[in-house]
Amino acid sequence: MAIHKVLVTGANGQLGWELAQAAVSFPAFEFVFVDRNAMDLSNPSEFEVVIALFAPDAIINTAAYTAVDKAETERELAHTINAEAVAQLAKIAKQKNIPFITYSTDYVFNGNATRPYLTDTILAPVNFYGKTKADGEQMALAENPATIIIRTSWVFSSHGNNFVKTMMRLMKDKDALNIVGDQIGRPTYAKDLALATIQIIKALNEGKSIKGIYHYANTGETTWFGFAEKIKALAGLTCNLTAISTAQFPTPAKRPTYSVLDTQKIENELGITIPNWETALKQCIDQLT
Ligand SMILES: NC(=O)c1ccc[n+]([C@@H]2O[C@H](COP(=O)([O-])OP(=O)(O)OC[C@H]3O[C@@H](n4cnc5c(N)ncnc54)[C@H](OP(=O)(O)O)[C@@H]3O)[C@@H](O)[C@H]2O)c1
Repeated sequence: MAIHKVLVTGANGQLGWELAQAAVSFPAFEFVFVDRNAMDLSNPSEFEVVIALFAPDAIINTAAYTAVDKAETERELAHTINAEAVAQLAKIAKQKNIPFITYSTDYVFNGNATRPYLTDTILAPVNFYGKTKADGEQMALAENPATIIIRTSWVFSSHGNNFVKTMMRLMKDKDALNIVGDQIGRPTYAKDLALATIQIIKALNEGKSIKGIYHYANTGETTWFGFAEKIKALAGLTCNLTAISTAQFPTPAKRPTYSVLDTQKIENELGITIPNWETALKQCIDQLT
């Protein structure tokens, strides 16, 4: 079935917003963006009515419960949004025989690896947010094996809440900051992920069979400290940065130490070229300054 209308949840999130910016360059598709007022993911029983109203040819679910620390205590809500809602969207997409794309996280892995995680590496989340996302993946695939799941990591954008914007604000306000230097991952510019997602929609529209789990993150890897150093340099800030250990920065939710996603599958199978994280960061900071 040809894809014309694409329904996107999470209109005000980083990825939802970047998809809306990118969508204008793809007029062949009609993207319809819904926020939590139009479609509340904590109410999966309402989805059928909302989706019938829009009658999309594909669904992209960027909405999620992303407050990693708060998820430790708001467990029921986090699980409904990140797991039950995702399974329900997958089920409806199957009934309607339309593609369904949703996103997951590096936090589904245990963080103890020493080489990048493959799409089929065993899941062992170290916090409750990671568990909700892992459950969402498995429940969605059980409902609808054609579900497309894109795991990503360390997402930033000129829009919304993220490490880049927080660091720029703090570095302007303070003379010195301590940043965790022993967690390793791959930052991801939501704009690049949005463009990759639209490439997938185009490929599906051309009849390519795409399903299952993929990883997408900008190339290269760093620590939060390394990320902060680069933000500082690109934004021309002068704050003094010190690398500290995870143990010196306790958080309600445990964080994985090694979070590097292997993205070869999406690059090789779908021919998607992924920009380097430092190039992507420069683009984002240019937008912010
Ligand atoms: N951010 C990261 O570092 C990161 C890392 C790995 C994976 N991911 C995954 O990547 C995807 C996109 O993340 P993102 O960074 O774009 O997230 P984000 O900026 O936090 O946006 C999440 C969006 O979900 C919406 N939302 C939350 N609860 C909702 C509900 N009950 N009903 C409807 N919408 C609701 C929020 O709405 P409001 O604007 O109204 O609050 C927000 O617009 C998510 O699946 C996330 O889990 C993100």
